[in-house]
Amino acid sequence: IPVEDFDLVIFGATGDLAHRKILPGLFRRFEAGQIPETSQIIGAARTEQDDDAFRKEAEASIIEFGGVKKSNPNLAKFLQLLGYVPIDAKGDGGWEALKSRIRDDKVHAFYFSVAPALFGDIAERLANYGIADEDSRIVVEKPFGRDLATAKALNATLAQHFAEHQIYRIDHYLGKETVQNLMAVRFANVLFEPLWNAQYVDHVQITVAETVGVAGRGSYYDKSGAIRDMVQNHMMQLLCLIAMEPPYHFDPNAVRDEKLKVIRALEPVENGDIVRGQYQGDGKNGGYLEDAEDPDSRTESYVAMKVRISNWRWQGTPFYLRTGKKLRARTSEIAIIFKEPPHSIFDDTGHPKANELVIRLQPNEGMNLKVMIKEPGPGGMRLVQVPLDMSFADALGAEGADMPDAYERLIMDVIRGNQTLFMRGDEVEAAWAWTDPIITAWEDSKRRPEPYDAGSSGPEEALRLMHRDNRRWREIRS
Ligand code: BG6
Repeated sequence: IPVEDFDLVIFGATGDLAHRKILPGLFRRFEAGQIPETSQIIGAARTEQDDDAFRKEAEASIIEFGGVKKSNPNLAKFLQLLGYVPIDAKGDGGWEALKSRIRDDKVHAFYFSVAPALFGDIAERLANYGIADEDSRIVVEKPFGRDLATAKALNATLAQHFAEHQIYRIDHYLGKETVQNLMAVRFANVLFEPLWNAQYVDHVQITVAETVGVAGRGSYYDKSGAIRDMVQNHMMQLLCLIAMEPPYHFDPNAVRDEKLKVIRALEPVENGDIVRGQYQGDGKNGGYLEDAEDPDSRTESYVAMKVRISNWRWQGTPFYLRTGKKLRARTSEIAIIFKEPPHSIFDDTGHPKANELVIRLQPNEGMNLKVMIKEPGPGGMRLVQVPLDMSFADALGAEGADMPDAYERLIMDVIRGNQTLFMRGDEVEAAWAWTDPIITAWEDSKRRPEPYDAGSSGPEEALRLMHRDNRRWREIRS
């Protein structure tokens, strides 16, 4: 379904995110017929250039990062929607020119694809120059603060000029099809929800493993580390979608209220329940310390932790989270490990194994439910565990293989005015309130992260986190 035509302004339009994600994403939605040709997409940044120069720049990025052919006839049509205004975010230059391009009777969205230090300056000018009105939407990206205090300050800055219903805080994990699918699996089936609690679930494993390191973005990453970069936001969102109560409706505030309750119910994580790691070089490739350029850095490129949720549903069922760079394979998944059947009637043929539901977020998106069956043959009642395996690509054909990128979905939701997949201010603050003491305790401990080999599954200590509870991590493999 096409959206209404709109004026979208991308601040920071010459930057990496705009070129790698936003512009190719918009093009794909245009090709899909969702963006009316009367819409405008206006780039705004410091660089002095005209519409044509920006169109050329955009064309090159859409070809490179969107995998689009130059000869694609839709590309030339799409480029006609693009314009550019040079702007001084901290001064007066360009703001009147921008205002003259914005049409009064259209949906207005302003994408702040800039450093958070500029959010306040831009928000203030949008309001003071009368460019934004009470229906305008603004879009902001992570990092949304680096702790509770800075997140609160950012929220307060935006709140001076925009109401909460106008602010779209992106966590791109919520735009992933498979992440949204978590809600479909839980709340559109009768099978799982009755078992989705501490009575039947032994534990949950959430893994986001990456093969990339931090080379090239070491100066950002070294100030963040895996907890700020991945746990406070993306992994927290996954945890919330798995752990939350059913919202009464698939409605922005109903969903976000339930997520917030989960975050507030998280218990503090003790130092003994968390393992941090740093990848090491192997002679040929540099390790984290070389990539981050600080030979003494204590920043973690890997973290594993045991998280407890203090509420009726999850009392006694731990959630184990792990994420890291330079691991053996790129794989993100959620595994629900159920309890073993309370009693086995098959005495002489072994105990049935626990069921497992594995939801593969990326790559090879799909689901795998492990169930017990009888091993075929005349040799008596022998049990074997087999997978009920489904990949989206197989089950849904072309649609399953060609899933829209997270940004495509999220930008269209901004234009539609649907905040369900965006973080509310109180949610972000609650997530920092939980993360802050974990980070402070670590910094106070002055410990070094455990070394792990690039290409491995992470530090040995992370295995012990599980073994001491008589559990084991699922293998990381592609
Ligand atoms: C980003 C982090 O938010 O998410 C990166 O800053 C990380 O460090 C990335 O690599 C992972 O996203 P995806 O979509 O590749 O899983």
